[in-house]
Amino acid sequence: MQFTVAIDGPAAAGKGTISRAVALRFGFRHLDTGALYRAVGVMGGDPVAAARALTPEDLARDDLRTLEAGQAASRVAVIPEVRAALLEFQRRFARREGGAVLDGRDIGTVICPAAEVKLFVTASPEVRARRRWLELGGEAAAKPYDAVLAEVRERDGRDMNRADAPLKPAADAVLLDTGDLSADAAIARACDLVASRLPGKGA
Ligand code: DC
Repeated sequence: MQFTVAIDGPAAAGKGTISRAVALRFGFRHLDTGALYRAVGVMGGDPVAAARALTPEDLARDDLRTLEAGQAASRVAVIPEVRAALLEFQRRFARREGGAVLDGRDIGTVICPAAEVKLFVTASPEVRARRRWLELGGEAAAKPYDAVLAEVRERDGRDMNRADAPLKPAADAVLLDTGDLSADAAIARACDLVASRLPGKGA
């Protein structure tokens, strides 16, 4: 069975948590497409060459989850040749046998416009910045909340306003605002949606 779940949305909206849980529940494979851009961003040198030469080892680096890697990813992600170099791998992953969940910014709009399920996960910049700041250690974090909020806004602006594959909900995406939802409640909604679209369940 081929079955694609496309999960898009801005940084720290909860895409990763929801994607991993959906993949686990339905036995699908999961691809965090942000990791591709993060790996290209932290490799330095020519980003187009880095994207074309990306290996599984690059995706296993332990420095991909930092705020700096996120900013570097967002900067290389505006380059059309970088996006083009990563496109085929993502499409192949999406159509693998057994089902796939991909999370990113342009999965439902560009990578998998025919995905069986499209979810756009969002929350206000303040809610998302607070989550990131707490992940970094809260009061004990090296960065104050205001600095994290400024970075979230900067990254949103770049991701939403770039010319190639900007972050926006697909016309047929289901919106999920996680601002007032617990992780468990957000996961339950996503799983209900996927279950309702599985073959034999009707649309
Ligand atoms: O989801 P993330 O925070 O790991 O993504 C890091 C950056 O990579 C994000 O700011 C923009 C870019 N990105 C993208 O342009 N397209 C994707 N499908 C995934 C990420």
